[in-house]
Amino acid sequence: MTNITDQIMQQLSTVIEPELHRDIVTLNMVRNLRVEDGVVHFTLMLTTPACPLKDVFKVRINEAVIGKVPGITKINIEWDSEVPADGRLGRLDVPMRSIIAVASGKGGVGKSTVAVNVAVALAEAGARVGLMDADILNPNLPTMTGVGNGRPGVNGTKMLPIEAYGLKVISTGFLIDPNKAMVMRGPMLHSAIRQFFTDVDWGEIDYMVVDLPPGTGDAPLSLAQSFPLTGAIIVTQPQDVAVQDALRSINMFEQLNVPIIGVVENMAGDFFGSGGGEQLATKLDVPFLGRVPLDAEVRKGGDYGRPIVATDPDSEAGKAFHALSQVIAARVSVITLQSADAIEMNVVG
Ligand SMILES: Nc1ncnc2c1ncn2[C@@H]1O[C@H](COP(=O)(O)OP(=O)(O)OP(=O)(O)O)[C@@H](O)[C@H]1O
Ligand SMILES: [Mg+2]
Repeated sequence: MTNITDQIMQQLSTVIEPELHRDIVTLNMVRNLRVEDGVVHFTLMLTTPACPLKDVFKVRINEAVIGKVPGITKINIEWDSEVPADGRLGRLDVPMRSIIAVASGKGGVGKSTVAVNVAVALAEAGARVGLMDADILNPNLPTMTGVGNGRPGVNGTKMLPIEAYGLKVISTGFLIDPNKAMVMRGPMLHSAIRQFFTDVDWGEIDYMVVDLPPGTGDAPLSLAQSFPLTGAIIVTQPQDVAVQDALRSINMFEQLNVPIIGVVENMAGDFFGSGGGEQLATKLDVPFLGRVPLDAEVRKGGDYGRPIVATDPDSEAGKAFHALSQVIAARVSVITLQSADAIEMNVVG
């Protein structure tokens, strides 16, 4: 006769992780299992703290075990998370588990707004989040995160990021006179972006969110050629022109072998209409991540450095950004784990 922990593990191995399509035992999500007086205790290790599936797991785990394993009356799950690390970053000594580029074809569609609010939502969930302003010449993130007067300190040879809303933020906006226009050539831009990775004391980061300038120019190219990106989020407005430009942006990342995390439709509503982003995603067979409504409070939040996801989480836009952060975190886990599989298979093959 098998012992009780084996029986419980066997039952738990019928519970499938809905995003990763494998069972929670094979995925090594069940840790420290013990049984005391008919109660099962274990830790369920999720691939992100921003996991919307806790209730689903709870129900399915109870269904799988209670009444199936004799003598078990209750299950006590403790939640923990470990964001899967992109092995390529580890080998480069970059202390980041994932890099998420936020891009668009057209300017002014809301990349920086999406980057800030998604980053804040991930940090609120408990993740260690960096926010990097790769818009070197027109840095907006210091203002949008309310730390426009921030001046980075120094630790040894490295610069310290500025903390805001639980994020670690870095931007050329912290380093230059905001009233002076910056002039830089391609190679300088390239090294500025590289230095944000190599010369900043980030500590351990789960999600590095990188806000790009618009278009398919030097910045996304430099970024993608310097560091392995986990994936790119393409932000678009619903109307046709923006969607056309988004298509170009997606093509560029595909040529650079950067996975597309998905498309975000921002500023949806009466004025710009809605649906363009979703149609684009369907047409290209890339995930549609969600829609954020056009809302004057979102703009004010940006102008005053008070991201709406933190200041008004129950607003439609606040809820949209929150949901977006969860969908993005789940996609990042899937992409990272798939690429790790691919590396393993390559080694074996
Ligand atoms: N959902 C929204 N509702 C209302 N205003 C928004 C929304 N999203 C962004 N905005 C506003 O639109 C303007 C452009 O947004 P943002 O700066 O985020 O775009 P961007 O794509 O980063 O621009 P750029 O291409 O210049 O970097 C800002 O004033 C911002 O506050
Ligand atoms: Mg921007």
